[in-house]
Amino acid sequence: MSDQTTGLAIETAGLVKTFGENRAVDGVDLSVPTGTVYGVLGPNGAGKTTTVKMLATLLRPDGGQAHVFGRDVVREADAVRSRVSLTGQYASVDEDLTGTENLILLGRLMGHSKKASADRSEQLLEAFGLTDAAGRQVKNYSGGMRRRIDIAASILNTPDLLFLDEPTTGLDPRSRNQVWDIVRAVVAQGTTVLLTTQYLDEADQLASRIAVIDKGRVIAEGTKGELKASVGAGAVHLRLREAAQRVEAEQILRLTLDAQVQLEADPLALTARVGDAASNGRGASEKASRALAELARAGITVDTFSLGQPSLDEVFLALTDSTTAPEEAAA
Ligand SMILES: Nc1ncnc2c1ncn2[C@@H]1O[C@H](COP(=O)(O)OP(=O)(O)OP(=O)(O)O)[C@@H](O)[C@H]1O
Ligand SMILES: [Mg+2]
Repeated sequence: MSDQTTGLAIETAGLVKTFGENRAVDGVDLSVPTGTVYGVLGPNGAGKTTTVKMLATLLRPDGGQAHVFGRDVVREADAVRSRVSLTGQYASVDEDLTGTENLILLGRLMGHSKKASADRSEQLLEAFGLTDAAGRQVKNYSGGMRRRIDIAASILNTPDLLFLDEPTTGLDPRSRNQVWDIVRAVVAQGTTVLLTTQYLDEADQLASRIAVIDKGRVIAEGTKGELKASVGAGAVHLRLREAAQRVEAEQILRLTLDAQVQLEADPLALTARVGDAASNGRGASEKASRALAELARAGITVDTFSLGQPSLDEVFLALTDSTTAPEEAAA
């Protein structure tokens, strides 16, 4: 299933797509290992869909190169197409057909027998929790059901590479969880997934590696841990034995950590931010242990203590802040 030469499902170098003056994708380099979920994270208009369309051979690049399983997306588009499937940001099933009819029709279009198409359709509807809705027209499906049938349609033939373009945008938490489970199941069967999302928790939940893109460029890339480490170590959470000691504890933390300290609603709890874009995780844990020693010396008992990584939200804000022009930031 993997490409013999590189082991990469996707490899792009300097990929460019322009629309008039707009460089929607402006020199994107990606290396997506096979067999994993790779997250492409970015705000509206970042160039996610445009990138996916080029990789899925639906849009011709204006510059750079892209290979899928070692095949060039322009010169060997047919070879690429035979191994990929795309679930678009806007669902592509036929509204007037029922769930079953849609899947059977697609199965037939892919050249499967009537029987095979019906069996596969039933199997997928069951797996996606749509058996009860199988006989209803898709236009009467809820957003979550709609997204699930769309993903089901895209994995009728198990693709080697599945593009999921914002699969959970607009879904409620329960439906999002269902889609996440489906993505995990698809990957467990050996499919590589390229997932675009605006949601950091989604990338956090599903992706092994993440590329953060903004204005057509990759502004950070790595594992979740690497991305989090790149913006500093995050927050120290403390819970004291005595509420009366909190004010003194706050002062000590502020001095030793040289950081903002927040008093929580819980009268025993404090949170301090350690680490900034310039520091790394190790510096933060050293600072935190120094702070604990200072608290002990002052006779303050700490009941619980944790040093957490920053959330991907914090990472994303830190990264996009630095690339946002001042006039845009002010707007
Ligand atoms: N067919 C097109 N013609 C002209 N401009 C386009 C076209 N498709 C995309 N663009 C522009 O390219 C840029 C990137 O768009 P794209 O759809 O790739 O962003 P996105 O990251 O998918 O955003 P979203 O999260 O809103 O889906 C935007 O400025 C968009 O307006
Ligand atoms: Mg998009």
